[in-house]
Amino acid sequence: MGKYGMLENIKAHSIMVERVASVIAMEIKKAGIDISMSMITAGALIHDIGKTSCLNTRDDHAAKGSDICVMNHFEEIAEIVKEHVILETFDSQGDVNEKEIIYYADKRINHDKVVSIDERLEDILIRYAKGNERLERLIKENFAQCREVEKKLFAVLSFMPDDLAGMIG
Ligand SMILES: [Fe+2]
Repeated sequence: MGKYGMLENIKAHSIMVERVASVIAMEIKKAGIDISMSMITAGALIHDIGKTSCLNTRDDHAAKGSDICVMNHFEEIAEIVKEHVILETFDSQGDVNEKEIIYYADKRINHDKVVSIDERLEDILIRYAKGNERLERLIKENFAQCREVEKKLFAVLSFMPDDLAGMIG
């Protein structure tokens, strides 16, 4: 985080994404699915590592972050970082994996607060789409995908999406 000048607000966001992702991952593990907790923690803390350098460019911070992982020999989490904004592949039937958990956890933290997917969508539309119809459509498509991921995760989990805020305190 220090090496790439991560801003304090992005650090705070990443720490909360890590907490949400860990709670989900632990429960998924208890259900007998093989999830690496160290990949969850590292992936969540580092998912926005490309953000600072992309703030004033139009570069894709997820792709940039993935490159940073590879350059620093964190190959195991490069794919998690690359796909944290938009999943490149999603199998609704396969076992839950680490990148789906980070992708979902990131959509449940707005700044450093736990929110619903709908609240996060609302904020992203305001901050990023700014009335651009094409962007608005792409963002809505991605959140429709996120609802599918939510369904997949919570088919395994023993709590509800709304319980998450209370679980991480
Ligand atoms: Fe991000």
